Order: sequence, then C-alpha cells, then structure tokens
Amino acid sequence: MGGLSSSLAAVWKLRQSLRAQLLAWVVLTLIGAICFNLYESHQTADQTAKLVTDRTLLSSARVIAEAVWVDEGGNVEVDIPPAALEMFDTGFGDQVYYQVITAWGNLVSGFPDLPLPTVERSGQDVTFRDATVRALTLNHPVVGLPDSGAISVTVAVTHNSQYALRKRLWLDDFTKQFVLVLLAGAVTIIGLQRGLAPALRLRDAVRARGRERLDPLSPAMVQTEFQPLVHALNDHMERVQNQMAAQRRFVSNAAHQLRTPLALMSTQASVASREKDDASRDEALQALRSSIRHLSRLASQLLTLSRAEPGSRRPRNEVIDLAGAAKDIVAAHAEQALQRDIDLGVEVEERVPIAGDGTMLREMLVNLVDNAIRYARSGGRVTVSVSRVGDFAVLDVEDDGPGIPAAEREQVFERFYRVLGTEGDGSGLGLAIVREVVDGAGGTVVLSEADGGGLVVSVRLPISMEKQE
Ligand SMILES: Nc1ncnc2c1ncn2[C@@H]1O[C@H](COP(=O)(O)OP(=O)(O)OP(=O)(O)O)[C@@H](O)[C@H]1O
Ligand SMILES: [Mg+2]
Repeated sequence: MGGLSSSLAAVWKLRQSLRAQLLAWVVLTLIGAICFNLYESHQTADQTAKLVTDRTLLSSARVIAEAVWVDEGGNVEVDIPPAALEMFDTGFGDQVYYQVITAWGNLVSGFPDLPLPTVERSGQDVTFRDATVRALTLNHPVVGLPDSGAISVTVAVTHNSQYALRKRLWLDDFTKQFVLVLLAGAVTIIGLQRGLAPALRLRDAVRARGRERLDPLSPAMVQTEFQPLVHALNDHMERVQNQMAAQRRFVSNAAHQLRTPLALMSTQASVASREKDDASRDEALQALRSSIRHLSRLASQLLTLSRAEPGSRRPRNEVIDLAGAAKDIVAAHAEQALQRDIDLGVEVEERVPIAGDGTMLREMLVNLVDNAIRYARSGGRVTVSVSRVGDFAVLDVEDDGPGIPAAEREQVFERFYRVLGTEGDGSGLGLAIVREVVDGAGGTVVLSEADGGGLVVSVRLPISMEKQE
C-alpha cells in the first residue's frame, strides 16, 4: 500500500516535471518512428529477398529449358545441367524441386506432383510436401517440335536462403536506425539540459534569496520565453516591497499616535495626584478619563482595521440583511444623536441581502453613522438609507455638516488622515476601515456633497443571489 502510494507520488512528481514531460514526448515520438520504420524496412527486406529468389528461379528454369531437346524419334528429352540446381546451393540447406512438362501435358523430367504457379515467370508461394516453397514457371519453345510446340519448366526452392537474406537486410537497416535514434535521444537530452539550465538557475537564485532581498532579478538570465515570468516575479516583489514599506509606516504612525495620549495621560495623572483641592482634582481626573476613552477608541479602531485587512481573518461568507443591520445600528446611536440634538432618520427597503463578513460590514456601518453624527451640525439631521438598485445594494449616509472638500475626498480614506481643523477627538482610521471592508466585499464607496452642503457617503455592494426569498 505504502509502496503503491509512493510510486504514485513519484509518477505525479514526474508529471509535474517539465524535463520529464519534454523527454517523454520526444521518446514517445522516437519510439513511434522506430516502430513504423521497422515495419517499413521489414517489408522492403522481404520484397528484396523475394526478388532475388525469383531471379535465381528464373535463371535456373532458363538453364533447364535450354537443355531440352528432341531426339530422332520425336521424343522430348532433357539432361538437367548441374549448374541449374547448384545456383541454389548458398549454404542454407535449401531443397530444390523441378518439373519439365510438354505443352500437351507429358512429364519430361522431375516431380509430377509439384504444384504450378498460376502466372508464368512470376514467383509464387505454393505448398509442396507439407512445406511452403517458392516456385516459378517458364514456358519455352523447343526447336524441332511440331507446331512450334513449347515446354514448361517449373523450379521450386525452400525458403531458408530467402529468409536468411531478408533477415540480414532487415538487421542491417535496424542497426543503422537504432544508432540514429540513440544519437537523437542523446542530443535531445543534452539540448533539454542546456535549454532548461537557465530556468533552473533562476529557481536557485530565487531560492537562495534572503527574506529581505526583494530587488528585481535580471530578465537576461533566462530565455525570452521565461522573461515574462521574471517580469511577473519582479512586479510581485515590488508589490511586496511597497506593502512592507506601508506596513512599516503604519506601525510607526500607530506608535506615534499611541505615544501622544500616553504622554498626556502621564501628565494628567501627576497633575491629579498633586491637586489638593477636590474640584480641581476631579477636573484633572475627568481629563484623564477622556484621554483614556480616546486611547481605547484608538486601540479598538486599530484592531478593527487589522481585522478588515485582506488575509487577516478566515474569509467569512455570511448573508446579512443590510437594511436590518442599518436599522439596528441607527437605533444603537440614538443616544449619541440625542446628545448633539440631531434628527437621526433611517429609510430602508424590506430586505437587502448582501454577502460578506457580517461583523466587518457592521463595523463599516458603525463608522459611517458615527462620522455623520460626530461631524453634522449640532441640531442638524442625519439620514441613513438602504435601497436596491439593480443587482446592487446602495447604502447612503447623509449629513448636513461641513462636508469634505473635493480635493481631500480621496485622502480621508488614508490611515490616520484627518481634515485640518476637524473638531473632536478621532484617530483618522474610520474611513480607512470602511474602504477595506467595502473592497473586501467587492463594492465601491464614493463621497459627494449633499444638497445642503453636507457629506453623502454612498456604498454600493453586490446583492447576494443565494437565499433570497
Ligand atoms: N461626515 C463627515 N463630515 C465631514 N467630515 C468628515 C465626515 N466623515 C469624515 N470626515 C473627515 O474625514 C476624516 C477622516 O474620518 P475617519 O472616520 O477616517 O476618522 P475620524 O473620524 O477622524 O477618526 P475615527 O478613527 O475615530 O473614526 C475626519 O477626521 C473628518 O475630517
Ligand atoms: Mg470616524
């Protein structure tokens, strides 16, 4: 069992190997060519050997026919010349049979029961005394016979010599071809080795690189066919490099953002501990609590952002009702809206199912509603609406605050970016989270100006086709 699976694994590995595949194709083609050629050369050798035998049979018959004569009594006679039979003595122990008959059917000499070929002067295989023999008949006129009479001479010989000749001719051909194929195979293997060497060098070069080495590889190290692969590798490494730089920037920004409130808190704590007066101490403690709130919001936004990044969580594909989620989140923010005297409204359709990570989609909603309430005019209005447009769910969050200048509508999605002069504390991560979540769910987010001058955030997400009642 183990042997079987390991040999299967070995076959699989070979199937994966370009070298093995190319070699297999070449070898299969060569084997096919050899088989075809062997068959062809066997046919040729067979025909040649038959031709040689038939020529000898014809000569022999002719020599016998020349020796036929008519005596004074009008009888046809023959003295078989020894040369006529000796030409078959090639050392393979062949048996020779002959027959001489007159045109009217009288046997002059030889074997009376020798079967005659059907066509004159052409060799044919016939069965004689339980063996196949090659036979040939020659009709020949004899001087002295009435009505220009003729005799017919048939000579037959066993196959030993013919087969021996065929084998020799075939073997000669076979050896030549075998050597040729061996040579072609060897040259192919050398060619493959040389052709694949640059690709293998590329593999080794990539493998030998350290974790930090992301500088581009030279495309010139491989043939033109492989150069697109090198370009793709280089592009990929560049992306990784940019990603790493962004990550480093992010970590240093985050550390910076954490350090400022921490320093502030340390000061506030020492101020509070030094205060003798109860009211002033309360004030200092209040400030400290507010800094802690800010810091803990920053920490939770950082955590949400890291979870929203692609690849940080196992991808979840739940179907959530965007309309229901919007209603819940608006309800949860009623208190916050009340504090700023904001008219928080929600207009949603029945059910708008979308697919994605439910927790993250809710985080997106929370951040948009939080921004709208936070940055709307106090005493103003915020409207959240969810509708279906074709195959898309459209979420609009509209407020009547100062809006975002067109020039900054792209930058606000960057991490830690806040519009200059923005009041209230915030970390500048909310819209970055929104962008990550929307990207992850395959949607788009666009900022525009509301009729009254506030901001409208429009999110389009594909409607989930499954589980739709
Ligand atoms: N509805 C809005 N109206 C006006 N300006 C907005 C609105 N939403 C966002 N902004 C501007 O975009 C900036 C980035 O918003 P974002 O939500 O990313 O960060 P934040 O609200 O400052 O901090 P937090 O991470 O706590 O949400 C805000 O600082 C603000 O200047
Ligand atoms: Mg925000």
